[in-house]
Amino acid sequence: PPLHTLLNMDDIEAAAKSQVSKKCWAYYFSAADDLISKSYNTEAYRKIHLRPRVFIDVTSCSTATTLLGHPVGTPLYVSPAAMARLAHPDGEAGIARGISRFGAMQLVSHNASMSPEQIVADAKPGQIFGWQIYVQNNRAKSEAMLERITRMRDKYKCIVLTLDAPVPSKREHDEKAALEAAMQFNPNPSPTGGAAAKQTTGSDKPNAAAGSGIGQQMFFGTAADLTWHTTLPWLAKHARGLPIVLKGIQTHEDAYLAARYARAHPGTVQAIILSNHGGRSVDTAPPAVHTLLEIRKYCPEVFDVIEVWVDGGVKRGTDVVKALCLGAKAVGVGRPALWGLGAGGWKGVERVFEIFQDEIVTCMKMLGARNLSELGPHFLNTRMVERD
Ligand code: FNR
Repeated sequence: PPLHTLLNMDDIEAAAKSQVSKKCWAYYFSAADDLISKSYNTEAYRKIHLRPRVFIDVTSCSTATTLLGHPVGTPLYVSPAAMARLAHPDGEAGIARGISRFGAMQLVSHNASMSPEQIVADAKPGQIFGWQIYVQNNRAKSEAMLERITRMRDKYKCIVLTLDAPVPSKREHDEKAALEAAMQFNPNPSPTGGAAAKQTTGSDKPNAAAGSGIGQQMFFGTAADLTWHTTLPWLAKHARGLPIVLKGIQTHEDAYLAARYARAHPGTVQAIILSNHGGRSVDTAPPAVHTLLEIRKYCPEVFDVIEVWVDGGVKRGTDVVKALCLGAKAVGVGRPALWGLGAGGWKGVERVFEIFQDEIVTCMKMLGARNLSELGPHFLNTRMVERD
């Protein structure tokens, strides 16, 4: 369907589903176990009600802000998500092109399907990126990647360390798709990984058992031994002054520890991302909305020390505005950008951001807010989510 006929994220997802491969759909759609966190991420926003104010001149409205001190046109950013080329050959560079008009930030996955150099090659002046790392057991490999990224510091403005996936999770849609593919190739797949698995995945990884999904395959080599006191000093050294963003914070306790670390070690951790990995890590983990509410209640000083970004389940401009009202400085979308790519390459991503931007501005005007600094909890009734 022509992109202008796609009016919301459900339309975009449906259009993508009809165009991408089965394997791609299963990998992007999938989440852990019963998909409870994935669906609750969206539902939690719907349980927050808005409190619009009237009699305010809203002829103009700006979504401009700064992230880590860099000006951006919108608080909406693209979350790091692996393998964009599964959806469309435009890949991660297509995402960069699609969002360039909006002055939005893009976080590039450790498992991107294009090189970090290729992705930023045609970026507009002022367009900013971050690079997400899964620390490898072989630290030398991680150090070499960090060296490459820090050489492009005119584009890559932060290192995002993902913490919510120390081990692979169980994603049955993804695993079933891989099983089906392996069964077609070899009706008697070996559970320990035989020739069939190696040929279908192009991988010689020892754990590449037939039937293990894309998510599991990519996990090989990722370190599970990260700690505040061993990993952060190492990362700060190799980030060479680039700010560190901790992704996958899910409790006020860890938000507090991040802020405490940031205070004690200036120039290292400068933001956290409240995220449950789009529901893909441990099922029934809390949505970012709950963590935001916890931080507001138990350690609101966190918001003064580090920037708090959130992602997961965002499908409407009203969702974005609600997160901002609760203290988020930026709001990320993972699947919507991938579905946009699947629906129409870089232009599909542009359409996704066009819809979101339009919805964000409409919502702000309806509330009586003319810029992001006017947003706050006074615009919300959160009673329903607080009961959950
Ligand atoms: C992800 N996510 C992710 N996160 C990360 O830190 N590194 C990664 O490589 C990936 N890969 C990835 C692939 C796919 C297909 C998805 C859907 C997600 C998680 C991502 O950054 C983000 O937290 C969620 O996608 C946010 O939820 P929504 O917007 O997809 O609901």
